[in-house]
Amino acid sequence: MRNYSLDKSKIKVLLLESIHENANLFFRENGYTDVECLNRALSGEELKEKLQTTHIIGIRSRTELRKNMLLQAPKLFAIGCFSIGTNQVDIQDAKMLGIPVFNAPFSNTRSVAELVIAECIMLMRGIPEKNALAHQKIWRKSFNNSVEIRGKTLGIIGYGHIGTQVAILAENLGMNIVYYDIEKKLSLGNSKPVSSMNDLLKMSDTVTVHVPLTELTRNMISTEQIGLMKEGACLINASRGDVVDYKAVAEGLKSNKLAGVAADVFPQEPSSNDKPFVNELQNFNNVILTPHIAGSTLEALANIGLEVAEKLVRYSDTGSTIGAVNFVEIALQANSSKQRFLHIHKNVPGVLGEINHYFSSRGINIAAEYLQTDADLGYVILETDSELDASVLKDLKNIPHTIRVRILY
Ligand code: NAI
Repeated sequence: MRNYSLDKSKIKVLLLESIHENANLFFRENGYTDVECLNRALSGEELKEKLQTTHIIGIRSRTELRKNMLLQAPKLFAIGCFSIGTNQVDIQDAKMLGIPVFNAPFSNTRSVAELVIAECIMLMRGIPEKNALAHQKIWRKSFNNSVEIRGKTLGIIGYGHIGTQVAILAENLGMNIVYYDIEKKLSLGNSKPVSSMNDLLKMSDTVTVHVPLTELTRNMISTEQIGLMKEGACLINASRGDVVDYKAVAEGLKSNKLAGVAADVFPQEPSSNDKPFVNELQNFNNVILTPHIAGSTLEALANIGLEVAEKLVRYSDTGSTIGAVNFVEIALQANSSKQRFLHIHKNVPGVLGEINHYFSSRGINIAAEYLQTDADLGYVILETDSELDASVLKDLKNIPHTIRVRILY
């Protein structure tokens, strides 16, 4: 069968901002030879010029891909955010240009879980305060406020990727786990679900929060919830700053209701390392404050490099959009025996009919067809047995409301 898809050596991949070498290696192992790696972010004219010839771009958080840039990227067909968030890209505009955006939401799950476990031990031993005093030349050798975590109850709010990892690690250290989640979840190990967050708060020696920020979770831990917690309980927040009301936490610390707190995320976080950081919890020795680094490990960075590169290569090779944040998801394996057409179009009535009509009116058998739509977009993948020439691409492009067409194999 003749090959009409763009040869991989002609697909230009641009990786910015010192993306982990794993990404470059993965592209090369999969036959992509034109991979340019830069150790800085790009913007303005420089970015615009690069985007003239780039098919796949990988960025971290400092390169912004706004609508005006995307409109000037004629060949761009996929974006990889080698990060957890995707705020640096106008993802809805990318979508309407037929460009899926991929990220790595779970590459640092284990890193967060490990830090939470460490903090749980530190808080329950009263280490932050003893450490702070020791730095001030004060020797505070004492059994007070110091307990083993073994046999204690850890309450996990949000039993998702991170919450479940924390549960497994904590259970292996001998803790009893209770969790509360808005969704029905499969309990791992001996974790026990509780039917309300209030129950969890009442029974836990340490509470750790692992929910996304939503209207339901904003300030979900405030004065009332802290009031329900055990005397001398500890609290950990490595989720999002606005999930916990730190003013209420400060009151809980002042009154000794809370014996210790660890906070990694804050409502106001400095945008860079040279900006000052201010928070009400800075006044307390028994608080561990970290600069949103729960997920920041070398392993997480390496995982992100691989995870996003895998998604980009899979999309480029097969059309699979699994893991895209702005696109309907179609999961597909590689297919070596059929021609595969990818057709991205505005979701208006009649487009699919026209595509099918195009093939059937020429007597071309459609061996397989996959379709996903959302309110704005339709993504259809067609496989044909027949050997078709490249003019099909042109014809498919001419169907009204077409955004993008690709052919594979
Ligand atoms: P996930 O989506 O896998 O899990 C979140 C869980 O929270 C889900 O099971 C969901 O059903 C549950 N949930 C949602 N609303 C709820 C509510 N109102 N009450 C109870 N449960 C609720 O997310 P993942 O990966 O576990 O991340 C959790 C949080 O950690 C997110 O806010 C994420 O942004 C944050 N995070 C922080 C990092 C850091 O460096 N500090 C790094 C990675 C993630």
